[in-house]
Amino acid sequence: MAELQEVQITEEKPLLPGQTPEAAKTHSVETPYGSVTFTVYGTPKPKRPAILTYHDVGLNYKSCFQPLFQFGDMQEIIQNFVRVHVDAPGMEEGAPVFPLGYQYPSLDQLADMIPCILQYLNFSTVIGVGVGAGAYILSRYALNHPDTVEGLVLINIDPNAKGWMDWAAHKLTGLTSSVSEMILGHLFSQEELSRNSELIQKYRNIITHAPNLENIELYWNSYNNRRDLNFERGGDITLKCPVMLVVGDQAPHEDAVMADSGGQPQLTQPGKLTEAFKYFLQGMGYMASSCMTRLSRSRTASLTSAASIDGNRSRSRTLSQSSESGTLPSGPPGHTMEVSC
Ligand code: BEZ
Repeated sequence: MAELQEVQITEEKPLLPGQTPEAAKTHSVETPYGSVTFTVYGTPKPKRPAILTYHDVGLNYKSCFQPLFQFGDMQEIIQNFVRVHVDAPGMEEGAPVFPLGYQYPSLDQLADMIPCILQYLNFSTVIGVGVGAGAYILSRYALNHPDTVEGLVLINIDPNAKGWMDWAAHKLTGLTSSVSEMILGHLFSQEELSRNSELIQKYRNIITHAPNLENIELYWNSYNNRRDLNFERGGDITLKCPVMLVVGDQAPHEDAVMADSGGQPQLTQPGKLTEAFKYFLQGMGYMASSCMTRLSRSRTASLTSAASIDGNRSRSRTLSQSSESGTLPSGPPGHTMEVSC
């Protein structure tokens, strides 16, 4: 009997003809930890936060977020917000390689650069969207400046410092693999890497041939030296804003929000993420329900009942909402929304 094979389909729904991306303007500001570059799309909207993104290691704002922010259905959302896309130092297009011995900022220092950006732009609050290292940086920023963060979308976050077992594994891998292979192993699951789809080939090519690979290695080292975010269930150190936690289905563990999960859902599942983001914003009062797609409206009904069954996580659910987020405790019940893509 012929075997059924699971085929991974990458959603593609680019901008419609005639739909053009809004003009972008790139700026750099000096901070106590060096200069940082960011790109602003759209214009500030009265009484609305900016959407501020932070990318993962090995990527920059474009290679991390372009497929999501240029996804067709995303346009009705983002046209209502100004977007600020931060490039970690040395990751911006055309960045020169840092001189030997340059002290790259720690993730905590990268988070401490964000107030300089917001002050420069005169923006008072944000909704943060971060992936991997970027999700960690935005969480640290939100812990330090809770009044300025209205919401957080955290994709594949690992809030913990590397334990000694992780370090041992990392050192062993470092003996046989190049930095670019290690970073690819951080971004994607082993299954995705061995399947070697067009997407993987594209990102492998981007990373291995990056002219700023030395800079990327510095960001990678800062990521590996991160300290615990120290979230405590019911403890003092909690995120005060609504949080949408996203875990790629290619993540190696069920509790992948804790693990160094693979998979980049913002690249492979922009449609699912857009829908979840719309629902998240609606929960914050920023999207009229009339803007929701038929699909998300029907999902909302099942989501409401799912939320009442004690926040139990289930792989079969696309969206779930609970007061206990597993590893990232939040404030009031219903503050955290979990999405597996
Ligand atoms: C945006 O519209 O925010 C956007 C466009 C291109 C790349 C990344 C973001």
